[in-house]
Amino acid sequence: MEIYLDTAKIEEIREAVRMGVISGVTTSPSLMMKAGRGDYRQVTQEICYLVQGAISAEVVGTDAGQMVKEALEIAQWSPHVVIKVPVTPEGLETMSILADSQFEAEDICQHCEWMDDCPLDREMARELATMQGIRTNATLVFSSNQALLAALAGASYVSPFVGRLDDIGHEGMDVVAEAAEIFAIHGLEAQIIAASIRHPLHVVEAALAGADIATVPYGVLKSMVRHPLTDRGVERFLEDWKQVTG
Ligand code: E4P
Repeated sequence: MEIYLDTAKIEEIREAVRMGVISGVTTSPSLMMKAGRGDYRQVTQEICYLVQGAISAEVVGTDAGQMVKEALEIAQWSPHVVIKVPVTPEGLETMSILADSQFEAEDICQHCEWMDDCPLDREMARELATMQGIRTNATLVFSSNQALLAALAGASYVSPFVGRLDDIGHEGMDVVAEAAEIFAIHGLEAQIIAASIRHPLHVVEAALAGADIATVPYGVLKSMVRHPLTDRGVERFLEDWKQVTG
């Protein structure tokens, strides 16, 4: 299972990239608000440059026409961008239109401030974007039926929101497990992102339930790393080493 970071805060992303443990990032208008940033394109392009993996950016329109228009624009920000679309009837229509559309990546990476240092030059970016097409991440998934419909509509990723289901007294992880089973039985290719992760145990449960990815807040990532016995062990090694070396 891969780990993505669920944040729009650049410093948190830099830190996780330094540890070499994340392969993608999920953002949303709410996470942009928490990061105090309104410049969605610029933030997303910087995250794409830092991570060089799948970066979800969300549309805010409510009808399919608006969402497709926004998606076509956002998809030009970087070949790493994945369009986050809510699982509503209009959202499913959007996913299916985007899955069937031929992506003209003519303006890919335009206005990107990190272009000069990026391992992908414009030509490579264009080729990658054209090859991948427009990928979508079906967000706000709260049932296995929604996960199934999103996969059938052509979403590349589906994101069951585990924590928000737990909050209302449901077993959120059941949706991840059921979706994983359904996709395996029926050969559906969409990848499952366990989202709305609240604590380290959720990550272990998501991995065991068959999620392809867990997208975790920075605080959860930190808790996954730390263990008091590891810290104590390091201290002890250092003390012992001091004793033998003087
Ligand atoms: C995922 O893509 C969402 O941004 C996120 O996991 C939502 O989590 P929350 O329920 O903590 O807001």
